[in-house]
Amino acid sequence: MNTQKNIVITGFMGAGKTTVGEILARKLNRRFVDMDAEIEARSGFTIPQIFRRHGEEGFREMERRLIRELALRHGLVIATGGGALVDDEMREMMGRHGLIVCLNASKEEIRARLAQSLDRPLAADWERLFDARQSAYAKISHQIMTSGKTPREIAAEIAILDDGALYVRTPDGGGYPIIIGNGLLRIIAEEAEELGLAGHVVIVSNETVAPLYGERLAAALPRADLIIVPDGEAHKNLDTVRRIYDEMLACGADRTTTLVALGGGVVGDTAGYVAATYMRGIQLVQIPTTLLSMVDSSVGGKVGVDLPQGKNLIGAFKQPRSVVIDTEVLETLPPLQWRCGMAEVIKHGLIGQPALLEPGLWQPEQAAQLVRQAVQVKIDVVEIDPYEAGIRAHLNLGHTFGHAIEKATHYGVPHGEAVAIGTVKAALLSRNLGFIDDDLVARIQTIMWQIGLPTNIALDSHRWYAAMATDKKWQAGEPRLILLRALGEATIVEGLRREDIMTVL
Ligand SMILES: NC(=O)c1ccc[n+]([C@@H]2O[C@H](COP(=O)([O-])OP(=O)(O)OC[C@H]3O[C@@H](n4cnc5c(N)ncnc54)[C@H](O)[C@@H]3O)[C@@H](O)[C@H]2O)c1
Repeated sequence: MNTQKNIVITGFMGAGKTTVGEILARKLNRRFVDMDAEIEARSGFTIPQIFRRHGEEGFREMERRLIRELALRHGLVIATGGGALVDDEMREMMGRHGLIVCLNASKEEIRARLAQSLDRPLAADWERLFDARQSAYAKISHQIMTSGKTPREIAAEIAILDDGALYVRTPDGGGYPIIIGNGLLRIIAEEAEELGLAGHVVIVSNETVAPLYGERLAAALPRADLIIVPDGEAHKNLDTVRRIYDEMLACGADRTTTLVALGGGVVGDTAGYVAATYMRGIQLVQIPTTLLSMVDSSVGGKVGVDLPQGKNLIGAFKQPRSVVIDTEVLETLPPLQWRCGMAEVIKHGLIGQPALLEPGLWQPEQAAQLVRQAVQVKIDVVEIDPYEAGIRAHLNLGHTFGHAIEKATHYGVPHGEAVAIGTVKAALLSRNLGFIDDDLVARIQTIMWQIGLPTNIALDSHRWYAAMATDKKWQAGEPRLILLRALGEATIVEGLRREDIMTVL
């Protein structure tokens, strides 16, 4: 049963309710109801005709009837007429099962927008109405100023307010939900059907995570086997894959079995690769347990393992059936792993969601909100570029510098720390090229410091540069880096000069 709250978008005429509502509904994979269009479809008349035949009161009565009906339903995105929720009783009714959001625009903007659509009833008298409705709109707790924002940006802002599932659209026209909450694993059995866990399930986890959460999860699900693999990147390889295949065959896994990856990015990538290949592919559910895997590796469909010759050389695209993120498991995550995950969160903040840079959101009790906002950046990128042909590269901000640190130190520096240093270097280079100012560089350095991440490393710059030049993202030996064009905006820069890079190293 769908128990999600409705998302109800209201606000003055011309505020963008219908356009934003349509985008939001597509983004969240929900049904969209435009109240004015619904009233027109049901009555067989246009809104101006209804006003002429029945007067404003006749129209309001139709609106009230529709509100009473919609307020009892779930999971819809609803765009109301501008006057629909001015009445206290109607607003309360919609609010009982719905999240109401009011879109605001200045009088000047409304004037400009209405100039293009004067056929709306009441448009002639709009200024008086605008003033008269302000006190009712002000009673709505979620207010969004639309000035200077695209409808897509406004929809993204509303999606964050909603605490229901996020949704990722995949290139095959389908998609999958990401469910985020605190304590989800304790109630997962109740949702087994919806999450694709009601049949035979094989849970793959590692020696660290299985005793903490795997055994409990296996016991809670109706028919589950648990396969435990060794912990660590050193085991993200074909030997482990082979071992999982063997154990799956031994426990009778077939094409109807669902594989659950329960662990950090290493388990997610390895088990995901098994799901992509076992009997030509079986259903996969990702249950990430590190901050990094929650905001990054569990979403987007990239799975794979390492070869002795290099990382992630064998892989596939395998979209999960669902991603279940229980932020309660972060309580047992070692502090170093939290900090390393935060390096990726900050990167997401810099390339797409500046709110992530606010320290208030880094507190443990805010984890669900933090993950939600950070994973939304990943969703936005992978939906546009599912196969890494273009802007998905933005997720590599700081990574070419960082990978080179890992390589030059023989993986003596943890990935997240290397990414933190790399992000600072990318910011310095962005400033030297005139893209961003000193203040933003200083802010990034301070953020890393507040989280407990390093911002520099004593490493010979020639060795560092040489390690960067082997990065597979440098095309045909041409320096190519992801840099910051502005806060919240990354860009691919090609043809960089060696001396410019050496300066920041
Ligand atoms: N597929 C992708 O798109 C993608 C993206 C980024 C990174 N990755 C991959 O992800 C991997 C790194 O993932 P990671 O940082 O999650 O490391 P990880 O999987 O090695 O986990 C880090 C450590 O934390 C432990 N752990 C996990 N959850 C825990 C919990 N809740 N409580 C206590 N301990 C816990 C693990 O056992 C491990 O020892 C790399 O292999 C990287 O290549 C993949």
